[in-house]
Amino acid sequence: MRTFVSAAQLHPQIARWRREGQRVGFVPTMGNLHAGHHSLLAIAREHADIVVASVFVNPTQFGPNEDFARYPRTPAEDAAGLAAHGCDALFLPAVEDLYPYGAARSVKISVPDLPEVLEGAIRPGHFDGVATVVAKLFNLVQPQVAVFGQKDYQQLLVIRRLVRDLGYPIEVVGAPIVREANGLAMSSRNQYLDADQRARAGAIHASLQRMRAALLRGDPVAKAEAAARTDLEAAGLVPDYAVVRRAEDLGELAGERGDRVALIAARMGNTRLIDNLLIDA
Ligand code: PAF
Repeated sequence: MRTFVSAAQLHPQIARWRREGQRVGFVPTMGNLHAGHHSLLAIAREHADIVVASVFVNPTQFGPNEDFARYPRTPAEDAAGLAAHGCDALFLPAVEDLYPYGAARSVKISVPDLPEVLEGAIRPGHFDGVATVVAKLFNLVQPQVAVFGQKDYQQLLVIRRLVRDLGYPIEVVGAPIVREANGLAMSSRNQYLDADQRARAGAIHASLQRMRAALLRGDPVAKAEAAARTDLEAAGLVPDYAVVRRAEDLGELAGERGDRVALIAARMGNTRLIDNLLIDA
């Protein structure tokens, strides 16, 4: 695996791959990589000749009271894990590559509508930060395919809309959620949990499964959502939301047919966890 520590270093190599007609697959990350990220590399490999991963903890997607400063940074382990899981190139952009005028003075990409609900409503500005950094990374890496985890379901929808609206010639692939043995979705933030919290956080996936079962047998949405909140609270979680929405755009259901997704965000102590489950897949 080759490592590129700036866009200036990466560009000649990107140009070479393009001249050779190699299809570049891209996995953007914020590092502290786990099995979930490694699965994204395997999916990128199925769609591309060259797999590029980036590691950049993006300041503009964290709110003022969020965990940017303490977000786990594990560069040596990340590089070793990427190399062991078939990554061809690691891109470690410098802050100046992505924010040459400083993060506060950056051009902003703002995808409308989607960022106003659920995660976006609770984390104002978060998806503008994500859309902005992903657009910049796409410009620097110029991939033909990019892989994003479905765990961040709303993020995946934002990226799909970004790509379509700005006309990026990039195929966006959503990757299945990788879970721990008790169903807890893998996340870099799981390491903030102690062993007891980690065990109890398995209730998030169990609640999603119960919501799915209830909806498939025809229970009203409000009943399934209320039961999920009760389940979460019984496990010591504080739900921000436990809802069922249209899978396509996270709009509220109004009796129409179409794919649905159940989504939960809940706090265990100081740690905020999110997860989701497609109902009709
Ligand atoms: O999902 C993430 O890790 C981040 O939001 C991303 C897409 C790398 C942008 O910083």
